[in-house]
Amino acid sequence: MALGKTNPSGTVAWQKLREHFTTMQYASMQEMFANDSSRAAKFNLQWNDFLVDYSKNIITEETISLLLSLAEEVNLKEAIAKYFEGDIINETENRAVLHTALRAPESSVVLVDGQNVIPEVYEVKEKIKAFSQEIINGERKGFTGKAFTDVVNIGIGGSDLGPAMAVEALQFYKNHLNVHFISNVDGDHVNEKIKNLNPETTLFVVVSKTFTTQETLSNSETVRKWFLKSAKQEDVAKHFVAVSTNIQKVTEFGINPDNVFPMWDWVGGRFSLWSAVGLSISLAVGFDNFNKLLKGANEMDEHFKTAEFNTNIPVVLALLSVWYNNFFGAESEALIPYTQYLQKLAPYLQQGIMESNGKSVGRDGNPVNYQTGTIIWGEPGTNSQHAFFQLIHQGTKLIPTDFIGFVKPLYGDEDHHNKLMSNFFAQTEALLNGKTEDQVRAEFTKVNVSSGTADFLTPFKIFQGNKPTNTLLIQKLTPETLGSLISLYEHKIFVQGVIWNIFSYDQWGVELGKQLANSILEEINSGVVKAHDSSTTLLLRYFLDKQ
Ligand code: F6P
Repeated sequence: MALGKTNPSGTVAWQKLREHFTTMQYASMQEMFANDSSRAAKFNLQWNDFLVDYSKNIITEETISLLLSLAEEVNLKEAIAKYFEGDIINETENRAVLHTALRAPESSVVLVDGQNVIPEVYEVKEKIKAFSQEIINGERKGFTGKAFTDVVNIGIGGSDLGPAMAVEALQFYKNHLNVHFISNVDGDHVNEKIKNLNPETTLFVVVSKTFTTQETLSNSETVRKWFLKSAKQEDVAKHFVAVSTNIQKVTEFGINPDNVFPMWDWVGGRFSLWSAVGLSISLAVGFDNFNKLLKGANEMDEHFKTAEFNTNIPVVLALLSVWYNNFFGAESEALIPYTQYLQKLAPYLQQGIMESNGKSVGRDGNPVNYQTGTIIWGEPGTNSQHAFFQLIHQGTKLIPTDFIGFVKPLYGDEDHHNKLMSNFFAQTEALLNGKTEDQVRAEFTKVNVSSGTADFLTPFKIFQGNKPTNTLLIQKLTPETLGSLISLYEHKIFVQGVIWNIFSYDQWGVELGKQLANSILEEINSGVVKAHDSSTTLLLRYFLDKQ
């Protein structure tokens, strides 16, 4: 059964939220904290190794209660059941959405077209495990009998971002294999990567769900040509493996069918790192750690499936995001992890969130009359503090921000970690409280600044504060907690898609550019520019002239 098709803006809760917003838009978080010493206790959630403090938001208990009513009115509970049970919720592609099945326990039963898919999932997991072990232990060797030292993942979008993010995030748990990622069709990217690789000891993992993606096929072709300068055609079988649903195309490319790791059309690219798309993660950190990543994700799945909405982390974070997006008119959200290991989290979630919820047609086929997908951006703290925090603190835009930090560092360097975390806590406090004119003037007085200078500088040094933040404080960055964290954001995406009445699991919006690129490529190759708008014509002619 499909998801419901309720236009959220027509619900009672939405109308009430609108009215509620008319007072809340002027609410001061500082005052709300001052008037209620139990505010933080009321607005935090603790689950496993996670503490989620959402008290620094422009909300009251009434706001939460109205947002929860909105979730009820759009039948979120029923939608969650459909999502986990494999209903065709991706209607425009006629598919179930079952990345959660990839991390479900072996005893689970998840039916697709009446067939339990869990045995197949575990068969592929066994294949990933055996293959990873053989490569890591050096039992499987390259064409000259040497053990592999390097692994190159060739893929793009969901076939790149997830594995690249997770390999970076779990660097602390890594083994001796060097894992590289080639994604862009930019020839400089692939050439830059291969120039220092040794074909005798490099394994290529070609990841493409469809095996039709221009970037991945071109890069694989270039890499194969490079490889064949040192090796023979039959050696390709030893050095190239593929992850795909399209076995025929993989075989045509010349990859041995035994070296193909299957995936399924019920796994969306941007949610696929839990499948064989995560092979390079398993190679980098070992299958046990890969499995722990899956386990952590499954624990969050269970929390999401079973917790009441008012204690349900993905639900609460999704509702808060709807509050800012649809009532305050906030256009973007920032994600600031306080660990360098998560430097690829924001780019990864950009695809997850923006490709999923960047839609403007409702599930009923009509244009939506409200805002949908938020713009996602971010960089690790403290680097980001020295880059764009100025705008979050004193700019004109409201940017709800998630701060993600860890109680324990991985190398045990407390001096650094305490400095890092003092920034983590200080930023959300500063964004909440800001700095008043009195405080600014008192500081000037303390250091004997002349009154003229003080008068001039004071307005620039005032911080309004009242900037909303969520704080996710997690015990330690481990494969399990990373799995839970990613799964949390996946479910946040789902909840928002349900509320916004859009199809979160298709991505028609990336097709038009691809089609045009193909016809423009023909024009570039032939040198014959066809009819375009005058701007595109001018640019193409200039490019061809200067080439
Ligand atoms: O960018 C569009 C997209 O279809 C993504 O959704 C997907 O992750 C990516 O391209 C790569 O597709 P494939 O795995 O089929 O090569």
